[in-house]
Amino acid sequence: MIKKYIFGNPFPTDAVIKDIEKSEGKLPYFETDGKGSFTCELSENDVVYGLGEQVRGINKRGWEYIGWNYDNPNHQEDTRSLYGAHNFIIVQGEKTFGAFFDYAGKIVFDIGYTKRNIMNIRADKNDLAVYIIDGESEKDIVKQFRQIIGRSYIPPFWAFGYGQSRWGYKNEKDIKEVAEKYKSAGIPLDSIYLDIDYMERYKDFTVDKERFPDLEKLVRDMKNDGIHLVPIIDAGVRIEEGYDVYEEGVENNYFCKNADGENFVGAVWPGRVHFPDFLNPKTREWFGEKYSVLTKLGIDGFWNDMNEPAIFYTEDRLAETLEKIEELTSGNMGIDEYFTFTGMVAGLNGNKGDYDKFYHNVDGKMIKHSDVHNLYGMNMTRSAFEALQKIEPEKRTLFFSRSSYIGAHRYGGIWQGDNKSWWSHILQSMQQLPALNMSGFIFTGCDTGGFGNDTTEDLMLRWLQYSLFTPLFRNHSADGTREQELYQFDNVSSTAEMIKIRYSLIPYLYSEFLKAVLNDEMMFRPIAFDFPDDKNSQQTEDQLFVGNEIMIAPVYRQNALGRYVYLPEEMMLVRMRKYNDFETEILPAGHHYVNAGLDELVFFIRKGKAVPMCEPAENTANIDFNSIKLVGYSDSRYELYKDNGISPNPEESLEIISLS
Ligand code: GLC
Repeated sequence: MIKKYIFGNPFPTDAVIKDIEKSEGKLPYFETDGKGSFTCELSENDVVYGLGEQVRGINKRGWEYIGWNYDNPNHQEDTRSLYGAHNFIIVQGEKTFGAFFDYAGKIVFDIGYTKRNIMNIRADKNDLAVYIIDGESEKDIVKQFRQIIGRSYIPPFWAFGYGQSRWGYKNEKDIKEVAEKYKSAGIPLDSIYLDIDYMERYKDFTVDKERFPDLEKLVRDMKNDGIHLVPIIDAGVRIEEGYDVYEEGVENNYFCKNADGENFVGAVWPGRVHFPDFLNPKTREWFGEKYSVLTKLGIDGFWNDMNEPAIFYTEDRLAETLEKIEELTSGNMGIDEYFTFTGMVAGLNGNKGDYDKFYHNVDGKMIKHSDVHNLYGMNMTRSAFEALQKIEPEKRTLFFSRSSYIGAHRYGGIWQGDNKSWWSHILQSMQQLPALNMSGFIFTGCDTGGFGNDTTEDLMLRWLQYSLFTPLFRNHSADGTREQELYQFDNVSSTAEMIKIRYSLIPYLYSEFLKAVLNDEMMFRPIAFDFPDDKNSQQTEDQLFVGNEIMIAPVYRQNALGRYVYLPEEMMLVRMRKYNDFETEILPAGHHYVNAGLDELVFFIRKGKAVPMCEPAENTANIDFNSIKLVGYSDSRYELYKDNGISPNPEESLEIISLS
């Protein structure tokens, strides 16, 4: 049962799309102060799940998190905000309920940070809707929530293939080299990503003709080899006379304004930019239509970036900073001056004050950006998604975004942003997945191998052994870091095998993905969600169910050749070195130490179940569903969901095949 409570005058976020009547009664579970603050006492053993893309564990108790979309490449224990705001939690324990705080501005979730047994949620203003969900179990609460926020985005089937990306591919030659080297190493590949260097001076919807003299031909040639090119689109539009996107935006008032009605100026990769006012439907329609510049060349996938929106600096803050720095550095720079100096420089990027300086035009009313900040990225992806439905009505286009709010899950996937080549970031990605699934983000994954810093071969192998289960499976890294295409490593055959195993598992992963989306369920679940009465399951923070048959327990520690695994029930351990070389062993419920050599993928099949696996193929287009064999408990069956992988409505071509 879902109840909706309204406080003040909330901005319509479009997160919830089902009409729910407002409840007049008192908000249950929380004490409110009438100023946007909500307090709930937690019992010692209550668990708090949710908050989507956030740091720390699956159980969110013990830290303060802030819903404020932020371009933050430091995903650390002390981080409070990342790129998305997913304000949905489930409290499980003496009382079990779900709560969604539908608020587009800054909102703090103090979950036992100030006081161990107190959860305090504070919105900047008392203008929000709170939804309270009572249900039989965590899974039931999630399902009810998902039913009111609408069906999750389904990408084309090819998006389940492996993708290679790197910020640093400069021209056509670089792209061709990646394709050729993957091919000659015998590693399957479905996509190569174009980062900002394909554009002319980082201008959206332009192609640098010197670097990419004939992108249309390149797209075609690549597609003939089964590879899709996926360009990036950034939120900021470069200010440049003669650039059509800039000029049309200025002429039609499509950009965000500052208080005196001028177009607001921030700086990002292209230098000075204006930000499209994505909250204005006319802007969305106009910007979305621009994607056709690239779809006309054969492009069928995009990643939307820098859409928190990221702001490296604003000119007035930069001027103030420079002036202050001159003052600070003119005399003897002591401790106070030094810290003020470094703090001011570091504080330029994503400065909260800059988001108070611009406005959106919503039905003729000027709305301050900081009051609706968390909706910006969602509306950028919405702009693309809705336009592409008109431009390419016959097919699905791949979209994923960096920034999001609940509701964005209907328009695209998300990736987990600029992680680092750190062992701890394997676990961090994994711990975010169930929380993201709770909020409808099913098509997701992280930068495999790590984006920032230098990766190593062993880290990459372990990372692949985890990421090969995530719907979005992309190797991406930052300019200047060690190159991490799989053919860069000595032991190419081991990494190649992991990709082949991914391709063997694609029928299963796609089928479980469809089931999760079509039935409003979670593809990635904490094991406690399936074993709610088991205390050990509740304590297990580094294992997940993937669909209904598989449990993963990846190795994420440097030099570890195994790990402890907790089995809430008997399961079949599967150990694979190659896609066609596996050993299985039945293990009883309980704690086990499981060996896992660096080149070995270890995962588990649940009792009485089996998983379909096919012959790997060089890309998804060549996957042969007739080669599927069931691996797992004998006499078990599997219900395979399959569609044509491209029609916008999967139900039109959905087949449910019973395999035994
Ligand atoms: C941002 C993105 C990253 C991209 C880079 C350059 O940091 O998160 O993925 O490579 O910008 O476009």
